[in-house]
Amino acid sequence: MRLADRMSRLGTETAFEVLAKARKLEAKGKHIIHLEIGEPDFDTPRNVVEAGIKALNEGYTHYNPSAGVAQLRETVAKEISRTRKIEVNADQVVITPGGKPIMFFAILALVNEGDEVIYPNPGFPIYESMINFIGGKAVPIQLREENDFRLDTDELKKLVSDKTRLIIVNSPQNPTGGVLTEGDLKAIADIALERDIFVLSDEIYSRIIYEGSHHSIASFPGMQERTIILDGFSKTFAMTGWRMGYGVMREDLAVLVAKLQTNSNSCTATFTQMAGIQALAGPQGEVDKMVAEFRKRRDVVVGGLNAIPRISCRTPKGAFYVFPNVKEIGWEVRKLSDYLLNEAGVAVLFGTSFGKYGEGYIRISYANSVENIKEGLSRIGKAMQNIK
Ligand SMILES: Cc1ncc(COP(=O)(O)O)c(C=O)c1O
Repeated sequence: MRLADRMSRLGTETAFEVLAKARKLEAKGKHIIHLEIGEPDFDTPRNVVEAGIKALNEGYTHYNPSAGVAQLRETVAKEISRTRKIEVNADQVVITPGGKPIMFFAILALVNEGDEVIYPNPGFPIYESMINFIGGKAVPIQLREENDFRLDTDELKKLVSDKTRLIIVNSPQNPTGGVLTEGDLKAIADIALERDIFVLSDEIYSRIIYEGSHHSIASFPGMQERTIILDGFSKTFAMTGWRMGYGVMREDLAVLVAKLQTNSNSCTATFTQMAGIQALAGPQGEVDKMVAEFRKRRDVVVGGLNAIPRISCRTPKGAFYVFPNVKEIGWEVRKLSDYLLNEAGVAVLFGTSFGKYGEGYIRISYANSVENIKEGLSRIGKAMQNIK
């Protein structure tokens, strides 16, 4: 088969591959503890499920406009205005099937072949994949453990060139749980303003934060018109399978992003959007409970990992991941994660799934029960004793 050249540049998300491997072992009767999956283990809040069922019963089963259902766009605009302290109107909102399409659409709309895009590494693998796919130049900025996995803004300044078109920031971050400070974001904003660069701000974990409050780069003067906020429902409301997220951006860009949607998905499912209105405008108690539970688990996982010889783990401030350092073991992390899966029955992701600077680290998702986390850590500890 003769494929288009660009297909050789398309990356992937290893989480789905590790999950498939783990499922195969399970089918053979092996018991696996899943610490690889990046989704809340909670059910979607009942009021949201009921709103989805009601919408189906009421016949919200047809196409809707590419940019989304007007009432949901309005609700998102209100929510973003309130939480980011900026003025957003419904025409600046595009609803997409998950937050992920916003990455693809933003990069397609803004980046020409040869343009440079600076992105966090280790970071969500789809950024690098999409930049390469469309023929842009992917310029990684290393997130360092000693800096609590916040990007170094002096380093960022040095990476910016006349070809830099877009900077991608993600806070709270996947895979490290790192959170950028208001000062970090201000420094990035200053660079973007001075050098006339757009920012894609992936804020999908904005509600899952344990210390202080979430800050958006879009809140700084002059930044709203050059920022695309990516957020959604998957993580906050445990709605990964509903496929619903959104982008918030200047109106002229929103029209074009909606046009990209017309050319691909047509629109996001209509009844899920009706449930999305309930998720944002309804009671928020379930979200608060989920975040409190995640905090408890974070403390269990960090304490447990630090008790295992040759592993050290920082305490992340957000999301539901830890990114422990396993350098002392001296194995390539891909080999180590295979070993943990096959020998210990614990599925984790190797750090290099998130880019080359992930070598020496593994990612553990603590979106699992305390009981399973403890069992997983105990198995990891025992398996490590067999590595000399
Ligand atoms: C940093 C980051 N952004 C975006 C997404 C995509 O979310 P969604 O499932 O809404 O497409 C994820 C999912 O894992 C993520 O980790």
